[in-house]
Amino acid sequence: MIRKLNNNKLTIALPKGRLFDQTIDILKKAEILKEDINSTSRKLIIESRKFYFLLVRAKDVPTYVENGIADIGVAGDDVLLESNPDVYRPIDLKIGVCDIVVAGLPESKEKYFSNPTSIKVSTKYPEVTKQFFGKKGIKVNVIELYGSVELAPLVGLSEYIVDIVETGRTLRENGLVVIEHIRQSSAKLIVNRISYKTRKEKVLPLIERLHKFLDKGV
Ligand code: PRP
Repeated sequence: MIRKLNNNKLTIALPKGRLFDQTIDILKKAEILKEDINSTSRKLIIESRKFYFLLVRAKDVPTYVENGIADIGVAGDDVLLESNPDVYRPIDLKIGVCDIVVAGLPESKEKYFSNPTSIKVSTKYPEVTKQFFGKKGIKVNVIELYGSVELAPLVGLSEYIVDIVETGRTLRENGLVVIEHIRQSSAKLIVNRISYKTRKEKVLPLIERLHKFLDKGV
């Protein structure tokens, strides 16, 4: 059975976890969302008076928005840089702020800065990694992982990793250090290009309210 969502409501794809709670918090403070949303259940579609929320993996948010299943989504630069979806990105929500870095064991630092011609890197971000080292003219052998990336240098899968650092706790607790900063990442509101045009009356007020809230905190 294909379940079609009622078209009277906007559909918003949100990553599960921390970004979900932070986005709901912003929507409530900006008075876009009036009621409480319970994210603790295992339900994947949560319905409020005005919205459907789809709870998806962070990397899948752009897919739901680009394909028009969701009108709107929230995705970090880390995710957007990987898939480069064809969507509007009207607002920097300034949540989920983290750094994308090259990291490794402290003893690997010197070798990194000795102008190597090739390098082996484990990461959840193959595109970001290829682009970063490509610009430096360094040949990169990317090993794609889906999580616990910090393990790679500890067991010799690769000397280096490219990953996001938020508090720095995971690096610290595994004896790793930041070797080079690639860029900062924060969560963006993304909007399907067709929804932006055909559902203007719902999409634009939401964007406007968010802008006002983020600019002035009201
Ligand atoms: C992310 C990232 C780091 C960690 C960084 O992993 O890949 O491992 O968070 O956060 P910190 O600097 O606050 O320690 P995530 O928690 O998404 O889990 P994963 O390893 O399963 O991808």
